[in-house]
Amino acid sequence: MSNTIKVFAPATVANVGPGFDILGLALEGIGDEIEMSLSGNEGLKIQMPGSDLPTDPGVNVAGVAVQALLDDLGSSQGITMTIFKKVLAGSGLGSSASSAAGAVYAANNLLGNPFSKHELVRFAMAGEAASSGKAHADNVAPSLLGGFTLVRSYEPLDVIRLAYPEDLVVVVVHPQIEVKTSDSKRILKKDISLETAIAQWGNVAGLVAGLAAPDYDLIGRSLQDVIVEPVRSMLIPGFDQLKQRAIAGGALGCSISGSGPSVFALCNDTTKAEKIGKSFQELYQHLGIDHYVHTSKINPTGARVLS
Ligand code: HSE
Repeated sequence: MSNTIKVFAPATVANVGPGFDILGLALEGIGDEIEMSLSGNEGLKIQMPGSDLPTDPGVNVAGVAVQALLDDLGSSQGITMTIFKKVLAGSGLGSSASSAAGAVYAANNLLGNPFSKHELVRFAMAGEAASSGKAHADNVAPSLLGGFTLVRSYEPLDVIRLAYPEDLVVVVVHPQIEVKTSDSKRILKKDISLETAIAQWGNVAGLVAGLAAPDYDLIGRSLQDVIVEPVRSMLIPGFDQLKQRAIAGGALGCSISGSGPSVFALCNDTTKAEKIGKSFQELYQHLGIDHYVHTSKINPTGARVLS
């Protein structure tokens, strides 16, 4: 059993349209890296070079998540970790989830894999609770498991890895402003009408069925969020124009990534996806908004060992 490990845990797009707090997918080529060592019984120590996020293990999302894992094992193992943040906090790309998922995955490996990746989800959720006040699993599940995931139930926790067509491509644009998940959760309506709920769960079911078939028209018809997007889109500069450009460019659908401000478009064609990415860039250049565009396929693996 090695004493040191380096892992990668991908950034994620949560909600994916209608699936607020239940659907998520993992991205290729972007995610946090964590180096971790076992260190006697000196407690948890965290370093985050170049980041001003808290390193106190009682507050840091990775520290809280690893502590939840150690508590479950009844272990007082000391652990030292260095988190290389590649996913910006407040981006809507599952920054806290990437650190929490990577940390529990690394610790589990160093401790001889007492837990499966599915079992690690609930420890990583403790990190999410520390970050946003809500132990949501729609980012940590795809970051750990890869692919497209569904949280079928929170109590008891039941996470399902969904079937999806391999040719899906995701374009994400991140306007460089920070939106805290806790803030963008607070502005949501607490009550919705039955009529609205019917529309939303029809779309969730349609999206899952469309992914499994696969049926791209059905995916496109279902990628609609009638509850959260109308409220949160007000926080995102140029949201309606981004969406118009995505649909005009042939995307299956377009919505807010996680709690924003990033916006994603889902495509089944790389050339179309790249053109949509360029049209997002052109819009934000025109509006004078600093931004970052990432285009990738869905990461099928999730958290993995680098060395
Ligand atoms: N489901 C969460 C939310 C994701 O939308 O608030 C946060 O990234």
